[in-house]
Amino acid sequence: MKIITSVEDLLQFHPKIRNKGRIGFVPTMGFLHSGHTSLMDIARQHCDVLVVSIFVNPLQFAPNEDLARYPKDPEGDVAKCKLHGTDILFMPKEFYPSGHSTTVQVNGLSSGLCGASRPTHFNGVTTVVARLFGMIQPDIAVFGEKDFQQLAIIRQMVRDLAMPINIIGGPLIRDHDGLALSSRNRYLSPSDRQRALTLHQSLRWMKSQVTNGARNAEKLLTEAKALLDVDAIDYIDIRNPNTLQAISDINGPARAFIAAKLGETRLIDNMELK
Ligand code: PAF
Repeated sequence: MKIITSVEDLLQFHPKIRNKGRIGFVPTMGFLHSGHTSLMDIARQHCDVLVVSIFVNPLQFAPNEDLARYPKDPEGDVAKCKLHGTDILFMPKEFYPSGHSTTVQVNGLSSGLCGASRPTHFNGVTTVVARLFGMIQPDIAVFGEKDFQQLAIIRQMVRDLAMPINIIGGPLIRDHDGLALSSRNRYLSPSDRQRALTLHQSLRWMKSQVTNGARNAEKLLTEAKALLDVDAIDYIDIRNPNTLQAISDINGPARAFIAAKLGETRLIDNMELK
């Protein structure tokens, strides 16, 4: 595995990457867990050369968010990337050129759900991902369904900007007790971690109700909300997975989404209902 730490080196080395065949790409912010490595395993099946990036992108954090304390484990990350077949690990020290003034905004999809309480977040994500795509020029890129809205926004960006990249979604990976894997789980105290399981439990409950014939989204959400043991609910909603529009009658494709805070930690989770 080759580690590249500057944009210039990546651009210079790129022809050698291209020569190897189809480029697969998994962008990350590091502190890697099995959710990330599962995306690498998926990418590996679709490419000849696998590029993973680790960059904690300041543009996607608001001033009051956790950029400064975002967890890091560079040595552990390098070991995990090696183990999961990464050919090039791109860990830039500097990423944006001085005077960088271009942003990428996907309208519509970026404004609801997480976009409502984090209004600048997705512009930061699409801006960094577009720049990464520009320098890595992948044929395929894999994003986790844990960040389902992010995945939908990236698909829209690629379509709208005619980027010739096949975007693949990787299933959400859960811990043994059902908690969706996230780098932010490490902030949770043992008691909050226990309470955090109610996100998953509430989603599972909604899924079982829908399987048993429940169709009224509002009624379902009111009951599912009561199952949550958290400090603040950002949102709990049922949406069409393709358009991310709210659904009142669950007759077609439907996915439930939750974002909640335990102490200072904001967690998200989602599950296909139908
Ligand atoms: O999902 C993430 O970890 C980040 O949003 C991403 C896609 C790496 C962009 O910084």
